[in-house]
This record gives sequence, C-alpha cells and structure tokens, in this order.
Amino acid sequence: MSEVAHARVAIIPGSFDPITLGHMDMIRRASRLFDEVVVAVLENTSKKPWFDAEGRVMMVQHETADLPNVRCVRFSGLLVELVEKEHARVVVRGVRGGSDLEYETVMARMNAHLRPGLDTIFLPSSPDLTHIASRLVREIASLGGSVEGLVSPKVAAAVRRRADERRAESAAAAGGAE
Ligand code: PNS
Repeated sequence: MSEVAHARVAIIPGSFDPITLGHMDMIRRASRLFDEVVVAVLENTSKKPWFDAEGRVMMVQHETADLPNVRCVRFSGLLVELVEKEHARVVVRGVRGGSDLEYETVMARMNAHLRPGLDTIFLPSSPDLTHIASRLVREIASLGGSVEGLVSPKVAAAVRRRADERRAESAAAAGGAE
C-alpha cells in the first residue's frame, strides 16, 4: 500500500452556517487525532442557509488557516460518495448531549449501511461549548443580540453584516407588499 493509502483521513461534514467555536474545537481536536482532516461544507442544505457555500467555505478556510493538516471542500449529494472520493476512513461528528447522540447515531448507522465498514467517531463537545449551535447564533444575531464568545470576532462581524442585510431585505419586502 502507498503512503497515501496509509494516511488516516477523517471527514468532518456539516452546514457550517456559520462555523462556530464549537466546530473549531472539534476540528482542532480531530486534527491532532488524524493525519488529514477534510472539513466538508454541504452546499445545498434544506435549511436555506444564511451564507452561500462559497462564503461558508471561505470562513472555514480562514478559521483553520493555522492547521496545516486541515483542508476544506464543498460537497453536494451523499456524504458516503465524498468519503470514497477522499479515501477517508472515518466521519467525525461532534455531540453536545443526548438529543445530538440520538440523531447522530441514526445518521452514523445509515452511512455505514450505505458504505459498509465506514465508521463515525463522535467527539463529545468541550463542556464550556455545549450551548453553542449555528442555529442559535443566527437567531441571536437576527434579534440584535451579541454573538461574541460563540464565534470568532471575524465570523461575528460577518454574522452581524448578514443580519443587517437580512433585516434590510425583509423591510424592503414588507415595503413592496404595501
Ligand atoms: O451541520 P449539520 O447541518 O448538522 O450537518 C448535516 C450533514 C451535512 C452531516 C448531513 O446533512 C449530511 O451528511 N448530508 C449529506 C447527505 C447524505 O449523505 N445523507 C444521508 C446521511 S444519513
């Protein structure tokens, strides 16, 4: 087997809308456990993202720039196909608590059904980060709250800008509807 075939490649998939300090903790820890970590940004999430795929990838790339064995790709379609393409051995997902575990276990088993032998490793979130979720970051920003301490200062600025844009968009839509 070649050197590449021996490399332990892990995939961390997600929407990253936006990347949070919780994601960063997981990526950093995975980068110490595996030879290579591929952060895979789902292009078309059914959740109608705040940031387009390009913006989400740019944020991930910026936040992980100091981690030499981490790279970021965007993907659509089945995760198992990306796993195959990247010659990855495992998928890594963060787990904050019981409901995450339940949801993630079903996904892990489904991915193993689609690609027998594929394992998912769950990383328990660090105790001081268990309250962080991208959905809550978006909600807080949309209601004018501070997202400091939940995302990096650079991502916080992007989130604030996007929240302002969205407010302007809905004000314009409401004005147009009158
Ligand atoms: O950050 P998220 O939104 O919790 O990530 C969800 C993600 C991207 C891991 C999941 O939606 C996914 O893997 N989508 C790809 C489509 C797929 O393979 N579906 C079958 C998996 S059970």
